Parts: sequence; C-alpha cells; structure tokens
Amino acid sequence: MNDLHCNKHETGSESLNQTQPVSQNGISRRGFFKLAGIAAAAGAAGVSFPKGAGAAPSKLLSLDASLPNKVFWKGVQKQFIIDPKVVYMNIGTTGSMPQQILKNYQKYNELAAFHPRTFEAELGADFGLPAQRAELAAQFGCNADEICLSRNTTDGMDAILFGLNFQEGDEILTTHHEHIAALSPLNVLRDRYKVKVTELEIPVLDTASEDQFVDLFARNITKNTKAILFSHITYKTGTRLPAKALCTLARENGLISIVDGAHGPGMLKLDFHDMGCDFYAGPGHKWQCGPGGTGILYLRNHGDDLPEFWTQNASTYTFVAQPVKNDRSKYDIGMAMQYRGQMDVSAHLAMVDACKMWEEIGREKIEEYVCSLSSYLKKSLAQKYGEAGTFFAPDIPEFSTGLTSFNPFANLEAGDKIQALVARLESEAGYQVRYTDFHLHAGDTKPTYALRISTHIFHNRAQVDGLVDALYDLSLQIEG
Ligand SMILES: Cc1ncc(COP(=O)(O)O)c(C=O)c1O
Repeated sequence: MNDLHCNKHETGSESLNQTQPVSQNGISRRGFFKLAGIAAAAGAAGVSFPKGAGAAPSKLLSLDASLPNKVFWKGVQKQFIIDPKVVYMNIGTTGSMPQQILKNYQKYNELAAFHPRTFEAELGADFGLPAQRAELAAQFGCNADEICLSRNTTDGMDAILFGLNFQEGDEILTTHHEHIAALSPLNVLRDRYKVKVTELEIPVLDTASEDQFVDLFARNITKNTKAILFSHITYKTGTRLPAKALCTLARENGLISIVDGAHGPGMLKLDFHDMGCDFYAGPGHKWQCGPGGTGILYLRNHGDDLPEFWTQNASTYTFVAQPVKNDRSKYDIGMAMQYRGQMDVSAHLAMVDACKMWEEIGREKIEEYVCSLSSYLKKSLAQKYGEAGTFFAPDIPEFSTGLTSFNPFANLEAGDKIQALVARLESEAGYQVRYTDFHLHAGDTKPTYALRISTHIFHNRAQVDGLVDALYDLSLQIEG
C-alpha cells in the first residue's frame, strides 16, 4: 500500500476502494485480465468440467466410498501438473497449484516485473483488494468487512491472539492436540500477561459423539474463562471437531471462540456465519491449492458481543480504526487487518483465482470427494489389516476429513518404525506421506505415532489401492 490510499480514509468507516483505477497502459481494469491473457476464473479459463457431476450432497456428509462421477473427477485431476512419478499425499503441509492457477500466477509476476506499478495502474490504488475480499466473503459465508487475505494460518493465529485484550488471570481453554501456530502465541500470552492456558484432553481412540467435545469444554468453563481455542481439524489425527456446537457453547457463555482452520479452506465447505465463530484463521496454500504465503482470516464484525480487538497490522490504524476510537461496529476490521505495506499482489490474485476454481467445481462436491476417498482408504486398510492396526479418527461422517491417521504397528510408541515406513513408502513405492506424534492422553510422557495421509481432489481410488498394498508389505517387513 502506498500513501495515496490513506488520504482517502479520514473517516475510517469508508471502504478503501474509493479510488478509480488509473490506467497507465490504456488498459481498463475490466480488460486487464483479458489483455494479459489471464483467466480470472476456472470457467473462463477454458477449464471445463464434464457435466453430470451429480446432485450436491445433503447437509449431512455422506461417505460414499464408491466415489461416483469418475469422468467428472478425471477432468478435475487433469488440471494438476503434480509429478506423476510420486503420489503426493501431504496436502496437510502444503498443496499444489492447478496448472491454470500456476499460469495466472506466473503471468501476474511477469506483469509486475515488466512494469512494477502495473497492479496499481490497472487494479487501482487498492490493488483490487476490496473486490477480492468481497469474492472471498461470498464464498465463505461472511461479510466483506470481516475477511482479509493473510499470509497463512500461523500469521492469522498471531494476529488474532495478539489483537485480543487478554489480562492477567484470564483463562483460555484449548485442546491437547493443538499446533505450534496456536500454542506459541498462547505461550507468549501466558508468559507475558500471565494468562492461564488450559489444555483439555479431547477423545482420540474413543471419538463417537459431538457431545463428548461440547461437554468437555462446558465442564471446564470457570468465571475466569475468556476464550476457547480449538482446531477445526486437528493436524495430529485429522479429527474434525464440532465447530458450530463449540462456538454456540462459547456464545452462550459469553466467551470468544477462536478456530485454527489450517485444514478447512479448500477441503470443507465453510460458512463462518453459520459456524458462529468469532475468529477463524486458515491458509490459501494447503487444501485450497493457492500459492505459498497466502491465507484467509475471518474476524466477526457483526452481531452482539464483539470482543475488544486491536489490529496488529497497524499501518492503517490512523486512518481506519483510530478515528472511531477502535469502535468495532464502526470500522472495516478486515481492511484494518489487511495492509502490511507492500504485498505479494500476484499471490493474492492467484489465491482468489484458486478459490473461484473451487467454486466452479463445487465446494460441497469437493468435501464429499475428499472425505469419501479418506473413508475408502480407512475401509481398505481395515480390510487389509483385520484386527491389527490403529485408527486415531473414526470413519464417521461428522468427524471425517481428508486426513487419515493410522499406525500399523503393535507398539504405537515405536517412532523409529513409523519414520522408517514414511521413508520407505517414498523411496520404494513413490508415496509421500508424513507422520505425526502426539499424546493419546494429556498426561502421557511418551508420544504415540501415526502415519498421516492426505487425500485430495487430485487423487483417485487406484492410488489409494497402491498405497494400501505398499503400506501393508513394508509394514510387515519393518515389524519383522
Ligand atoms: C492445525 C495447524 N495449524 C497451523 C498450521 C500452520 O499452517 P500455515 O503453514 O498455514 O501457517 C498447521 C500446519 O500444518 C496446522 O496443521
């Protein structure tokens, strides 16, 4: 962002998108993408998906392990340029851009290199951000003033936790399966402000009902509890937590709800208003398959009980928040959180393009496909291993995700065996997965290990079959 923007926003409540585009090349904003040879959305890119994709799934996810509409998904899978010599199954760490998105991203970068002020000239002084944020808001069930493009989940979690006004003695309830992206800022709050962080032991091997999670949090609320924080999907086991029920509990008890959504965008169909969370931090680079260093940050800015919040991206504070004395109801919090000086505009544009492509495919269909493929994997493993092997998340729709966690060995604490299995799956069979380690119970001194396998829209059943066969053979050899 440059100084041009700020002069326009003395009232703080205006959108920053007040500036008309100034075309230095005689290219209007409308013609920008077309003239640059960029396809703004998958449909416009000539990426056409076969008809007959079937009806959208019903509200309750069905795990259809037969994965119908093979033709449709083959068309989708053709959009990825991922190395065919390996089967990349670690989207939980980062995804892979579809070819049209990659082409767009390259083109954006070329334009910026050719004419460093091209985005400003063609998209306007706000780099088209209000339009991008409006696009995301429509896709993710919220208002445009409640969403911004962040750098990743970690960036979003920091912004949330350091923006809230926690005081000494306040308590935050969380789970014993959180990621360092949440734990690190929580630990800073603990050490800096003497905030109490309480890790609750969530079910792992005996996950059966949403009430287990809701009751656990409900039982532990005290007069000092100010917030609850949980992963929508834990990275340790891939279990989906009942986000809406937990956020409802928080609201009923006057608590702030903060969701680590690292595995939400691009895997699940999300509606932040329906979920009822106060804050949700997710990436654009994992399941959403946008460029690295992109994220989606939601900050509730409507309704009652808006928590006191201080923007950490203070570059626009003077113009956006300060004039209304940080009154949340009077300023565009998404915009206040958006600017951090010069941004990677190419990455933002490409991430929004990836989101448009997901809309084109259908987010509900994606969720159904991804979770069904994971269900197919679980069923195939169960068939192969019989009584042996341990799953850490059940094959039940409410808890299902694209992350499958499994340990084929008798000793769940044998980290060396899991590590050997991950290495040999890659070197001998071409499957790239990862392992996670975690405490089954909050007081455990030794970690439990699991393979963590990501199934996404660029995978198919044949690849899962190959993985199960390779995994079985190698695990027998390693177990000895
Ligand atoms: C639950 C969870 N939170 C946060 C992160 C960090 O994500 P990012 O790389 O988008 O910052 C991860 C990464 O794997 C994760 O699994």
